[in-house]
Amino acid sequence: MMERGLAVDFARVTEAAALAAARWLGRGDKNSTDDAAVTAMRTIFDTIDIDGTIVIGEGEMDEAPMLYIGEKVGSGKGPKVDIAVDPVEGTEIVSKGLTGAIAVMAVAETGCLLHAPDMYMNKIAVGPGAAGAIYLDAPVRVNLCNISKALGKSISDLTVVILDRPRHEQLIEEVREAGARIKLISDGDVAPAVATAFPESGVDVMMGIGGAPEGVLAAAALKALGGEIQGRLAPKTEEEVARAQKMGLSDINKLLDMDDFVKGEDVIFVASGITDSSLLKGVVMTNTGAVTHSVIIRGKTGTIRFIEAIHSFEKKPQWKKIAETL
Ligand code: FBP
Repeated sequence: MMERGLAVDFARVTEAAALAAARWLGRGDKNSTDDAAVTAMRTIFDTIDIDGTIVIGEGEMDEAPMLYIGEKVGSGKGPKVDIAVDPVEGTEIVSKGLTGAIAVMAVAETGCLLHAPDMYMNKIAVGPGAAGAIYLDAPVRVNLCNISKALGKSISDLTVVILDRPRHEQLIEEVREAGARIKLISDGDVAPAVATAFPESGVDVMMGIGGAPEGVLAAAALKALGGEIQGRLAPKTEEEVARAQKMGLSDINKLLDMDDFVKGEDVIFVASGITDSSLLKGVVMTNTGAVTHSVIIRGKTGTIRFIEAIHSFEKKPQWKKIAETL
């Protein structure tokens, strides 16, 4: 079992990634943004007492120097856990200085997180109010009708978040025909998927094709919050099919449900805002340091903590270094 104190330690990991990435805001350099966040995350991981293994990360060992799949993180002393990370969920967002980027990770006991390959997945996500009302294979109108009934809101008051991509032309058309509102996003579908669990976020549903790893990250939060996500891999090539099968997903067409994504309740989800999103405010640089905004969600107890941290670089020179990797 993961001790509750660990959750706050994990938030320090995403805080560090957010701070490092935020320094690159609007600089048009996706690689440096990602490198800075990865290095920051990796540095803080070493200070935490876990025996962690990255199961969703920056890629295979030969393609990523840090946070690659299979890499060991943590001091090696604490509980054995599997970790899914995305140091910058929305690198393009940060490089252009747009809204919607977060640093995010999910931690669960060994073997409890889906080992999702880095490929597309068709997804639908809702908060606890509409859990049980969705079915990925149902027509869009039927899903929206059932969600509207479950939430006690008319369809015309529902807000559906969809990635702004040509592949979603038909989906967008169908949502419009059903009469719901749409918020198109340029990138970053984890934050809105999780935001469906917070009515005040104004997001009711996240739909469409995005990354499979992002599906697992969103599922970790929704599992803890009582929401629901369903997904199905959408490989584009035979090579992707083979990769998914190699990672244990023998039935490529399987409709993945909550228990496929995350087994059990002992899961911790943490995220820190890099730029403002439907879930969190972004990093604010001040004259003495920076302010970060994070959420910690613990599946075991269902506790949700929003943490605003004011970092003083004078007292924490190591954080100044993290934020100044230019
Ligand atoms: P990164 O974390 O690589 O920046 O991905 C951002 C993202 O927008 C995800 O949120 C989304 O699931 C996926 O990319 C969509 O992929 P694509 O940009 O190829 O449509």
